[in-house]
Amino acid sequence: MSNLIVRGISAGYGKVNVVRDVSLTVPEGRRIALVGSNGAGKSTIVRTINGLLALRGGSVQWDGVPIESMRVHQRTRAGIATVPEGRLLFPDCTVTENLVAASTWGQPKIERQRSIEVVFDLFSRLRERSAQRVGTLSGGEQQMVAIGRALMTRPRLLMLDEPSIGLAPKVVGEIFEALGRLTGSGLSLLLVEQNVQLSLRSVDCAYVLRRGELVLEGNAADLLDHPFVREAYLGG
Ligand SMILES: Nc1ncnc2c1ncn2[C@@H]1O[C@H](COP(=O)(O)OP(=O)(O)OP(=O)(O)O)[C@@H](O)[C@H]1O
Ligand SMILES: [Mg+2]
Repeated sequence: MSNLIVRGISAGYGKVNVVRDVSLTVPEGRRIALVGSNGAGKSTIVRTINGLLALRGGSVQWDGVPIESMRVHQRTRAGIATVPEGRLLFPDCTVTENLVAASTWGQPKIERQRSIEVVFDLFSRLRERSAQRVGTLSGGEQQMVAIGRALMTRPRLLMLDEPSIGLAPKVVGEIFEALGRLTGSGLSLLLVEQNVQLSLRSVDCAYVLRRGELVLEGNAADLLDHPFVREAYLGG
């Protein structure tokens, strides 16, 4: 059964529809990428799925249930988590405080502690730096905190908006390796990236978004070889 089904959605700001008639599916336990250049509308789509932005048309279903009328926190509780573009952490709070801040919605303390341990097992660097203020961490470590924070809500779908941006290849490799371990345990991923090569190498299937509309979709390995993708995103 498919977890997330997005059908023919439109969304935008003011008078402009920046996303038009986009349909995509994230089946349970699969890794799906949404790729496209700067301004294509990727973050807009993420925000319509997590509820930060209202739909102007189409529908979003989660586990067979329409969720358009659900608020952001209800979607989070239903299992949809987002690692937002730019991370949006609390820089003056410690790693642990940032993690705890994401789980103050009635989880018993012991469960919260367990979630923190899961994050520290995934990113052992964060365990070492648990008492360090987040603003003093490296960019890669901050991205790990942002992912960890999303995991604190125990999601079944993790949407990551540009997790690799501005990071050195080595730490990007570490982060993507950790994401691979996560999906082995049944979590679904929607990876949003401008870095087309990296994301197509990291997922099962992908959608290519261009100026607010989907232009291609398919198996990630096939898309890596697709003439349009090579020409438009991989420098020929
Ligand atoms: N809050 C907003 N108000 C008005 N226009 C917006 C707003 N957010 C985004 N846009 C516009 O919508 C279009 C799509 O933006 P979006 O952020 O979804 O693109 P993106 O694919 O995520 O780009 P990037 O890779 O640079 O993050 C852009 O033209 C952008 O200027
Ligand atoms: Mg974006």
